[in-house]
Amino acid sequence: MKVANRTFIISGGASGLALATARDLHSAGAYVSLLDLNSDNGNKIASELGSRAKFFETDVSDTESIQKAVEGSVAWVKETGKEVGGVIAGAGVGLPGLIVDKKNEPIPISSIDFVLNINLRGTLDLIRQAVPYMTTNKPEGPDGERGVIVMIASSAAFDGQMGQVAYAASKGAVASLTLPLARDLSRYGIRAVTIAPAVFDSAMTKMMSNKVKQSLEKAMEWPKRAGEPEEFAKLVRTSVENPMLNGTVLRLDGAMRMPARL
Ligand SMILES: NC(=O)c1ccc[n+]([C@@H]2O[C@H](COP(=O)([O-])OP(=O)(O)OC[C@H]3O[C@@H](n4cnc5c(N)ncnc54)[C@H](O)[C@@H]3O)[C@@H](O)[C@H]2O)c1
Repeated sequence: MKVANRTFIISGGASGLALATARDLHSAGAYVSLLDLNSDNGNKIASELGSRAKFFETDVSDTESIQKAVEGSVAWVKETGKEVGGVIAGAGVGLPGLIVDKKNEPIPISSIDFVLNINLRGTLDLIRQAVPYMTTNKPEGPDGERGVIVMIASSAAFDGQMGQVAYAASKGAVASLTLPLARDLSRYGIRAVTIAPAVFDSAMTKMMSNKVKQSLEKAMEWPKRAGEPEEFAKLVRTSVENPMLNGTVLRLDGAMRMPARL
């Protein structure tokens, strides 16, 4: 599908992987609607990108907040005439915790809810609310494409480490829902793709201690470094542009397989 002159709704678009994606799609002529909790970053980026970008302060764990942002995006689409071509569900969090800690206390259910509500429920809720605005798009090209959904899982979907039960559960679920989502949407010419990155530079990985980061990099196969957000964004662009990518989970990890512990 063509990127130019279409609107992409991008959650988590104020930072990291989703921000690099927003910049890349924008540089290819897209309109980008950035949904994020972080309004300082979001407003700054939207004004830097100019008239083809809009920011909506959004909490993806809150259905009404998503509704407002999607409605705002659609109102903007009505002004610009650039229909919703895609959703990039990039908002996500990590909150490590062993299933039972050294004091024999189980992980708080609030930690599990926090991660699942943002990474899984927030992803599905955004897609659920945005899709009705894509099914009625004018079909494009010989295949009659109407749009694409790109989700972000993680290496943790396949080889989650100690302390990652909640995060791995959320990302494994995103990976699992990719095929049924593609099947639900195939009749409309809308595709669904999930990217599962290993370690990439972002605000999330900046929070890791140097020791953790270094041992993660040692576990990398090749190249022995964290990925760059722009390398992630390139795969999103390909996912949008290549119609044969559908219903699949693409690992983007330099052959890294996460060890049980660092
Ligand atoms: N960076 C990595 O190494 C890596 C690896 C695998 C998967 N991921 C996944 O990639 C995605 C992006 O992460 P990142 O590394 O770019 O992190 P990041 O922290 O740089 O960006 C995440 C963005 O999501 C936003 N966000 C958090 N909670 C939100 C909420 N409730 N509602 C709306 N926005 C919210 C944050 O404000 C932030 O702008 C996440 O889903 C993460 O799990 C990242």
